[in-house]
Amino acid sequence: MSKTTLTTSAGAPVIDDNNSISAGERGPLTFDNHYLFEKLAHFNRERIPERVVHARGSGAYGTFTLNKSLSDYTIADFLQNVGDKTEVFLRFSTVGGGQDSSDYARDPRGFAVKFYTSQGNFDVVGNNTPVFFLNDPIKFPDFIHSQKKNPRTNLPDPQAIFEFWANHPQSLHQMTILMSDRGIPASYRHMHGFSSHTLSLWNDKGERYWVKWHFKSNQGIKTLTEKETEGLAPFGAQQDLVESIDKGDFPSWSVKLQIMTEEQAQNYHINPFDLTKIWPHSDFPLIEIGQLELNRNVENYFAETEQSAFAPSNLVPGVGASPDKMLQARLLAYQDAHRYRVGVNHNQLPVNRPRCPVNHYQRDGAMAGCPMNGGSSVQANWVQGGGANFYPNDRAAQGAPDVSNHTPEPPLALAGSAATRYDQSDADYYSQAGDLYRLMSEDQKNQLVNNIAGGLSQADSSVQERMVALISKCDSDYGSRVKAAIS
Ligand code: HEM
Repeated sequence: MSKTTLTTSAGAPVIDDNNSISAGERGPLTFDNHYLFEKLAHFNRERIPERVVHARGSGAYGTFTLNKSLSDYTIADFLQNVGDKTEVFLRFSTVGGGQDSSDYARDPRGFAVKFYTSQGNFDVVGNNTPVFFLNDPIKFPDFIHSQKKNPRTNLPDPQAIFEFWANHPQSLHQMTILMSDRGIPASYRHMHGFSSHTLSLWNDKGERYWVKWHFKSNQGIKTLTEKETEGLAPFGAQQDLVESIDKGDFPSWSVKLQIMTEEQAQNYHINPFDLTKIWPHSDFPLIEIGQLELNRNVENYFAETEQSAFAPSNLVPGVGASPDKMLQARLLAYQDAHRYRVGVNHNQLPVNRPRCPVNHYQRDGAMAGCPMNGGSSVQANWVQGGGANFYPNDRAAQGAPDVSNHTPEPPLALAGSAATRYDQSDADYYSQAGDLYRLMSEDQKNQLVNNIAGGLSQADSSVQERMVALISKCDSDYGSRVKAAIS
C-alpha cells in the first residue's frame, strides 16, 4: 500500500510532527513554527456551541418504506406509492443535560427524523412523548431554565423544577409521563417517537387534514428504574444503537398517523392544537402508513450527528404546520439556532443537504459553496457560478429557477375576531393526566409517586402544597399518595 503523506491543512508535506523548532536544544520556540501554530489554532476551534437543549444525542441513517398510499390526503411525493423508499436520518437525544451528561437521565428523549424526500427535506422534530409541558412558547426559556442546573451551584435543582410545575398546571400531563416508569428508556431502540404536535396534510382538491405522527418501536418498550441505572456507562444508549446497527440488527418503528378532518377539529371537545393533550385513540385510531428502519451508522460523529440540523419548518408540498402555538414558534426558533450553532450555510453540509436539486437566489456567507459539501445537487456558489442572482429575471431558458406550480396549501380559516393574547390558564389540564394515572397498575402508580416524591420532598412547603393540590385535581388518590409520600 502506498504511503499517505502527512500534510498541513494547505496540503504541504510535513517533515516532523513530533518536535517543535527551538532556538537551541533547550531554548525557546521560534516564530517559524507555523505548523505548530496551525495545529494549536485549529484545536482551539474544534468545538461548535452545543445545542441549548437536546445537546446529548445519537444519530443514524435509515429508510422509510411506505406501505399505505396517502394520495387521498396529500400531494407529498414520498407518501404516494406503496413500496416507495425515502432515506432518513434520525437523531435521538436527552433534553436537559449537556453533551457530557448521561444517556440515562429521567428526561424526555428527542426523536428527530429527517426525511430526504424528492421534494426537499421534511423533518419531524418530535419526542418520545405524545404531549409536552407547555402549550405557549413564551414559557419555553423559563421552563428550560427551571429544569437545567442551578446557576450558582451548577447542580440539579429540584426546588426550581417543581416550583415551575407548581405554577403551571399545563405541565401536569407531561410531568406524570416523565415521572412514571416510562421516564427512563432503557435504550433509544426501545421507545416510541411522536410528532407530539398536530401537523397537516393537504391534497390536490385543496382539502386539509390535521395529523399526528406516531413511530411505534418494533423492539417494544424497555425502561429502567433509577436504581437500575446505577453503575451503567453514561454512553450506554449510544453504544447500544451503534452496536446494533453495526451487527445488522436494524431497529425499526411502525409509522402510524392519527387523522382528523377540519370539520372534526371544529367540533371536537379537545383543542386539537393544544400540545399538552392527546387525541384518544378511541376517537382517532392509529393508521399504519409505513416502516422506518435504521440501517447505517454515521462515519463521523461530529460531521454528521453533531452538525445535523432539524427544523420543524422543513416542510414539503402536501405537508404543513398547524396553528399549535408551540409549533408556530418552533418554525422560527430552529433555523435561527442552526445559523448560530452551525452557520448560515448549514444546509450545504452532507447530513443536511437535500437529496434533490436545490435552486435559489441565496448567495455567499461563511463556507459558501464548498464542492465537497455541496456535491452536484446543491446550487451553492460553486455550481451557481455566474448565474442569475436575483428574482424575477428573464433567464428561465438558461436554467434560472422559477417558482413551482404545485397545489398550494389551502387557506387557513381563522376563529375569533382579534389578534390579542388569549389566556388559557383555566383550561382542563387535569382530566388527561388523571386518565393516565387511572390506567396504571399498582406497581406503576407506586413508581410514579415515589419518583415525584424524590424531587418534591426537596422543594419548600409552599411548592409541595401547591403540587399536591394540582395533582389531586387530576385524581384524588394520586394526590393523597403523593402527599403521604412526602410527609
Ligand atoms: C417553543 C418551544 C420550543 C423551542 C423554542 C425549542 C427550541 C429548540 C432549540 C433552540 C433546539 C436546538 C436546535 C439546534 O441547535 O439544532 C431544540 C432542539 C430540539 N427540540 Fe425543541 N424547542 C421547543 C419545543 C420542543 C418540542 C415541543 C419538542 C418535541 C415535541 C422539541 C423537540 C426537540 C428536539 C427533538 C430537538 C433536538 C433536535 C436534534 O436532534 O438536533 N422541542 N429545540
